[in-house]
Amino acid sequence: MSKITGVGKYIPSKLVTNKDLETKLNTSDEWIQQRSGIIQRYWITEGETTSGMAHKAALEALKDAGKKASDVDAIVFATITPDYYFPGSGVLLQKMLCPERTIPALDVRNACSGFLYALSIADAWVKSGMYKCVLVVGSEIHSTGLDKSPEGRDVSVLFGDGAGAVVVEPSKPGEGLLVHKLHSEGEYAEKLMVQRPSSNDYPNRLDKDETVTDKSFFPVMDGRFVFKHAVTRMCEVLVEACHSIDVKPKDIDFVLAHQANMRINQMVLEQLGIPQDKTLNTIQKYGNTTAGTLPIGMDEAKRAGLLKPGQLVAMVAFGSGFTWGASLMRV
Ligand code: ACO
Repeated sequence: MSKITGVGKYIPSKLVTNKDLETKLNTSDEWIQQRSGIIQRYWITEGETTSGMAHKAALEALKDAGKKASDVDAIVFATITPDYYFPGSGVLLQKMLCPERTIPALDVRNACSGFLYALSIADAWVKSGMYKCVLVVGSEIHSTGLDKSPEGRDVSVLFGDGAGAVVVEPSKPGEGLLVHKLHSEGEYAEKLMVQRPSSNDYPNRLDKDETVTDKSFFPVMDGRFVFKHAVTRMCEVLVEACHSIDVKPKDIDFVLAHQANMRINQMVLEQLGIPQDKTLNTIQKYGNTTAGTLPIGMDEAKRAGLLKPGQLVAMVAFGSGFTWGASLMRV
C-alpha cells in the first residue's frame, strides 16, 4: 500500500481581482462571481517559472513529510504549461532538487486531471516496490498564455497560477491510496484546447511571421459543453471508484474536487447526495490552476484540520482531453 505523507503549495504573489480584469476584458466582477465563483486569482511576477513554483511547493511537501530532497527516488510532474515545448519541466525540477542524483522525472500533461494521473503512477511505483519515495507535483502558469482582450474573456477570467506537491510513500494495508479510476475521450479534444505551437503545421506557420496576433496560441473552450460533461463524468467516476471498493458516495467523508467552476462542484455533490460542507472550494481565491488545483486544495484542507485520520477522502477532476478521474484514499 502507499499513502500521501506530505503536502505543500506555492502561490505567486501578484493578486489579480475580478475588478482588475473588468476594463481590459469587458467583463464584470458580478458576472465572474455568479458564473464561476471566482473572486480573485494570483499571477506570476517576472522571473517565476512553472518548474520554479513546483520546486517551492515540493520543498514544502517534503518538509511536511519529514523528508529531504535526497530522499526522493522519482518525480512525476503534471503540467500543461511547461517551461519549454520540450524537454518537460520534470527534469528542471530534478536539477533544482537534486542535481547530483539522476533520479527519473516523468511529465504528465492531462490538464485538470493531470494530478490524478500523476498520483496513480506514483502509487503504482510505490506499491510495486520500484520506488519508495515519489514526489508528485502539479504546477501551472496560465497568466502568460491567456488572451487578455475582450475576445478571450470567457476563458481568461477563469485561470490562475499556482503549484502544489505531495510525497507518496509506502503505508500499512488498508490506509492510504485505495483506488484510481481514469478516463479519456479524445473525440472532444477541440472543445477545450490550445492549438499552437503544433507539429501539424506544414509548412511551418512560424516561418510566415504570423505568431504575434495569431489567436491559435490562446486557450479556447466551449464552456457550456464542457460544463455539462464535467458534471456528468465527475459523478460517474466517483460512483465507479466507490463501487470498486464496495462503498457508496454517501460513505465519503470529504471530497477534494478540481476547481474549474464552483457550480460544477455544487451540482456534483448535490447529484450524489453528498452534503456541501464535506468539501473545500478554493476557486474563490485561486481560480482554476489546472494540475496544481488538487494538491493546493489538499494543502489548504490539511492545514485547516479538515482531513482527519480514518476518513475516506475522494479526489475528482475533469478537464481538457476530455480526461477525467477519481481517486479514493483512507487518510
Ligand atoms: N464576462 C462577461 N460576460 C461574459 C464573459 C465574461 N468573462 N464570458 C462570457 N460572457 C458572456 C457570453 O458572451 C454570453 O453572452 P450572450 O448571452 O450575450 O451570448 C454570456 O456571458 C453567457 O455565456 P456562457 O458561456 O453561456 O456562460 P456560462 O454560464 O456557461 O459560463 C463558463 C461560462 C464559466 C465558462 C462555464 O461554462 C464553465 O465553467 N464551463 C466549464 C469550465 C471547465 O470545466 N473547464 C474544464 C477545466 S479547464 C482545463 O482542463 C484546462
